[in-house]
Amino acid sequence: MGDETNGGVLMAFVGVLPERRHLFQPQPMAEVAVSDAAAWRLNPNHRQVYNKLDLALSVGLVAAPCGVDPGDLGVAADAQVFVKPILNLAGMSLNARAVPAAAVPNEAGSFWCERLRGSHTSSDCLVREGRAVWFAHTQGSEVKDAERSVYWDVGVALPALEPWLADWVADNLAGYTGLCNIEMIGGRPIEVHLRGSNGFFDLYGSDFLPAWVALVDGHAVEPPPPIPGGLVISIFGGGELDETRRAIIEAAGVDVHPDPHSPDRMAVLRCHDKATGRALCDALGLVPGG
Ligand SMILES: Nc1ncnc2c1ncn2[C@@H]1O[C@H](COP(=O)(O)OP(=O)(O)O)[C@@H](O)[C@H]1O
Ligand SMILES: [Mg+2]
Repeated sequence: MGDETNGGVLMAFVGVLPERRHLFQPQPMAEVAVSDAAAWRLNPNHRQVYNKLDLALSVGLVAAPCGVDPGDLGVAADAQVFVKPILNLAGMSLNARAVPAAAVPNEAGSFWCERLRGSHTSSDCLVREGRAVWFAHTQGSEVKDAERSVYWDVGVALPALEPWLADWVADNLAGYTGLCNIEMIGGRPIEVHLRGSNGFFDLYGSDFLPAWVALVDGHAVEPPPPIPGGLVISIFGGGELDETRRAIIEAAGVDVHPDPHSPDRMAVLRCHDKATGRALCDALGLVPGG
């Protein structure tokens, strides 16, 4: 039935990548989604949040399915809009790009939306019965490589976003218990997941997983303390990491994690110490002036 098995033992977390299994302990009694495919399947009452066109319209953004002329909604022909699939469980910015409003393609299954500017944030939220009880915020670097943040600053205080996020959860996730993730640009949502930021959990501290598991299993539990955080750095490009860069990373005492799942990202570096992470970005030439 598509359940994850680990040496014949039923795993209650569903959709965990083999190389990430060590993080997902203890296991919950309930089936809990880690991938988007599992989250869609296991949450029939809340899966509508994966519809990004509905999400954009529900928060008042100017958006419509491809085929509806942006000009007919008052968007100037030379204004930039953002085109992407209405639903995409694979992530990785598939078919997502900015285009002038006059050049929106008639692409089945995609929509266009006003192009947002500002800080790119990703907020994980523990939800109990439709109420937000805990947040962990991460902010993308200003420095981009083909519009992707070169590093993510995991564990930043973004208190100004929390009232809006809590209201959004209360309005849209009635009855949901578990983790959700809300990605925003300039304080406006672009994407919601019924799972957390799996690639950042290494930096969430030792209390996070047990608290999440206790919550989904219905036990009384205090939300975990604020996460310690760190920096998650992407080395974009195909192929293998060269020896020079490998040596720089090793000298900083940071492990290299190859990324076989993203076509254009050769490795991910996770630094518990943010200063070490910033120095590493400089040494690797990932940030201007570094
Ligand atoms: N309305 C928008 N304005 C500007 N950039 C956007 C917008 N929507 C998405 N993006 C950019 O496209 C990327 C992919 O979009 P997203 O909805 O997060 O899809 P994915 O499922 O691929 O993560 C985002 O990380 C962001 O950089
Ligand atoms: Mg995204």
